[in-house]
Amino acid sequence: MKFFVDTANLQDIKECQELGILDGVTTNPSLMAKVGITGKDGIFSHYKAICDIVDDNVSAEVIGTEYKDIIREGEELAEIDPKIVVKVPMIKDGIRAIKYFSDKGIRTNCTLIFSAGQAILAAKAGATYVSPFIGRLDDVGSDGMALIEQLVDIFANYGFHTEILAASVRHTMHLLQCAEVGADVVTCPANVIMGLLKHPLTDKGLATFLEDAKKLSL
Ligand code: E4P
Repeated sequence: MKFFVDTANLQDIKECQELGILDGVTTNPSLMAKVGITGKDGIFSHYKAICDIVDDNVSAEVIGTEYKDIIREGEELAEIDPKIVVKVPMIKDGIRAIKYFSDKGIRTNCTLIFSAGQAILAAKAGATYVSPFIGRLDDVGSDGMALIEQLVDIFANYGFHTEILAASVRHTMHLLQCAEVGADVVTCPANVIMGLLKHPLTDKGLATFLEDAKKLSL
């Protein structure tokens, strides 16, 4: 299972990268705005800074919603660094653009997926990743995890190469359930990844070992 961190915060990205378990980063316009990045140059150099920290897989989202704009923006984003994955919204022109990018060998992440039908379309168009949003489905009383399970079954039936990137992962249980049902990737905030480290019995056990180690005259 790949771990992506869902943030544009360079410090959080560095912290996860230093742990040695990070496979990529996802961003979106809201996350970029949250760290105060503005203007095309600022945004592009921020993407470059992210690429310089991680090994691969930096999702950078297009803003355009018309085919021509998505293509132009996606090609510009892909020029920033070979680690860039162009993030495209799940709309009609987005699917057409994913097909275009796929034919050109540009990797894509189809975002804002809320149904199996949407994911199948994106996979058929050649998306590298599809991003079903678990937390936002849960927010409106739907079962986000049920969608992940459904996609794992469907993609296995047809041997789609597209990877299921579980997004809008809000807490540790989401992440663990994704692992159980076989999502290829999870993307979540750094605190969710770091939360996996914690267990009170680990802290208690370590305190005891360190105390007893004092008796060993090392
Ligand atoms: C990632 O690709 C998504 O944009 C992100 O996971 C959305 O998460 P949210 O629903 O917590 O904003």
